Amino acid sequence: MNIVVILPTYNERENIVQLLDQLEALKPAIKKHTLSFLVADDTSPDGTKDAVKEYQKTHKDVFCISGKREGLGKALLRGMTYAINVLDADLIVQMDADLSHDSKKLPEFIRAIDNGANFAVGSRYIKGGSIPENWGLHRKIFSIVGNAIVRFGLGYPSVHDWTGGYRAFKKHFFIQAQDEMKEYSGYVFQIAFLHKAVKQRAKIVEIPFHFTDRLYGRSKIAPFEYIKNVLEYVIRARITDILEGHFGKFAVVGTIGFLINTVILVGLKMIGIHPAVGSAIGAECAIISNFILNNAWTFRERKIKGKRTILKFVQFNITSLGALVIQSGTVYVGTLLFGIPAYFYAYILGVGLGLIWNFTMYSKVIWKKS
Ligand code: GDD
Ligand code: MN
Repeated sequence: MNIVVILPTYNERENIVQLLDQLEALKPAIKKHTLSFLVADDTSPDGTKDAVKEYQKTHKDVFCISGKREGLGKALLRGMTYAINVLDADLIVQMDADLSHDSKKLPEFIRAIDNGANFAVGSRYIKGGSIPENWGLHRKIFSIVGNAIVRFGLGYPSVHDWTGGYRAFKKHFFIQAQDEMKEYSGYVFQIAFLHKAVKQRAKIVEIPFHFTDRLYGRSKIAPFEYIKNVLEYVIRARITDILEGHFGKFAVVGTIGFLINTVILVGLKMIGIHPAVGSAIGAECAIISNFILNNAWTFRERKIKGKRTILKFVQFNITSLGALVIQSGTVYVGTLLFGIPAYFYAYILGVGLGLIWNFTMYSKVIWKKS
């Protein structure tokens, strides 16, 4: 494999040469593969680029690109694009350039890939990993809580470190994600990128490592902006998941059904048909619409076809009847307990229970996973 290690730098003059030396020293341990290094600098005012240029004179496997400062995410994006398009990378490694990421761990990342994983994630929050002991309580809490919000907020608890930047992954993850990644110019890039990979069912292996506090220079993270971006990312992702998931589509289909039901009831009433009849016809039309749309859209990956359709449609009607019974039953019990004036609350509760019933029956019985 052609491996390119991307090192984003902004004012890392004191760190970068030492890191490159450490990385060069690893080469004998990674003989099977070709290893090169790409510094993605943002024209650091401390002259990081000059130090790298000097280093390049004696090391042909070190590359350097520079651009204007647009944030860590943009630098990584630029680096990854260059690594694949120009340096022909198969595997991309990214790590911080301030010596916080233990370079001695790198062979473990590559071994994980050799053994069948396609995405190795450096983890501070699993056994064998840690955050610096000398960090103040604030910073520790910030790191742990922030990460937990992402981990549980996105709903993938099996990956423990979402915010870090020590990783190795096959190039296709970047090729598929690159257009969307342009949005994430800051540190939130790390989260968004891993999230895309997880959604593509990456074979992830976590590599524990001890994060060491930097000795030289300063962190460039802007805590408040970062927190804002992280929360915004998690909330947006959750909303998208709901809209794109079964429940969101189920709700859209149900709303369409409700509109059909209402229009037919009112329409038939206008031409003199009794509302009880109109309501029944409307309800059945809504049921047909719900069945067709849920089959074609909500549960399209479990689509019912052929002769089974009739049987399933009968089941669907019985389920809808069940929802009606639940709804009316709730109104009945509600008014019995709290009197007629409470009918509307009971009705809303009944509709809610009916929806839960319907959704459960649809996803677990009618369109159950085969
Ligand atoms: N080119 C470029 N442009 N590099 C940048 C920029 C930028 O705008 N901002 C930061 N970097 C580089 C730094 O020079 C360093 O090599 C690396 O990115 C990490 O930046 P730090 O400023 O040292 O970040 P940190 O240590 O506070 O943040 C750590 O935790 C974050 C959240 O968990 C790092 O591990 C991050 O990667 C991680 O996302
Ligand atoms: Mn750092």
